[in-house]
Amino acid sequence: MTCLLAFDDEMTLARPVAERLGWPLHEVQRHRFPDGETRLRLPPRLPSRVAFLRGLQQPNAKLTELWLAAAGARELGAAQLALVSPYLAYMRQDVEFTPGEVVSQRHLGRLLAEVFELVITVDPHLHRVATMDEVVPGRRGVALTASALLGAWVAAQVPGALLVAPDEEAEQWVAAAARGQGLDFLVSTKQRHGDRHVEVSVPEATVRGRAVVLLDDLASTGRTLVTAARVLLARGAATVDVAVTHGLFIDDALDQLRAAGVRHVWSTDCVPHASNCVSVAPLLADALRAW
Ligand code: R5P
Repeated sequence: MTCLLAFDDEMTLARPVAERLGWPLHEVQRHRFPDGETRLRLPPRLPSRVAFLRGLQQPNAKLTELWLAAAGARELGAAQLALVSPYLAYMRQDVEFTPGEVVSQRHLGRLLAEVFELVITVDPHLHRVATMDEVVPGRRGVALTASALLGAWVAAQVPGALLVAPDEEAEQWVAAAARGQGLDFLVSTKQRHGDRHVEVSVPEATVRGRAVVLLDDLASTGRTLVTAARVLLARGAATVDVAVTHGLFIDDALDQLRAAGVRHVWSTDCVPHASNCVSVAPLLADALRAW
């Protein structure tokens, strides 16, 4: 017997996942004490296998809660724990970019490996580390991709779209989405100068008159997409839409995208957001079924 545990702010995704699997779904109940600590409550008896659904956008407080909840689940009967984290934080900090920087990806991975037998995520930002198995040493790591789902959505909304990767790292997702739908694609190059300062160069190819869709794994401040959209519109693109797996859209990101001339903003429900239009519930359920 297996059950799914989820937090109140992710029930919209947890429900269809549990329904597809026919697993009981329980909420991890939280009480926030005035001093910032949290009391967690789980079902008093748990089956031998328990899967947690917890996206790790805005990760710092969530990690403490997740670690406590997982430890509690073991005491309440769970012998095997899986984590489904549709957005896995800290994956970009995968190398010591300047001397003394903590390689957070490595340490978060080790922490998760201490707690969970299986870690499933969607479109993790893996570039210098090849697989999720390497992220969680000694455990099973599974990287799902929403590329095909996003590609199908885009093709239905914008037939004949030209897909554009805003940087080289997005090529893997854009190429997969384009090939699946028989669409053209281009790969831009990006230089990041700061959290909110990037330069994007789109290759010399005809974008004039084309309906362009920028596709990426992640929109955080949105500046990568904003900069790419400005370049594409200046080069004569007829329209620019945006589709991302993880729509974090921090602070004024959406306003900036609109101001840059972006028409539609689409995202998967990996991260709950008003732009969600593609559900990864079937992907997550299939991966958990194979556990
Ligand atoms: C990094 O290369 C990712 O694929 C995204 O392009 C990046 O993280 C987006 O960040 P922001 O929205 O802050 O520009």
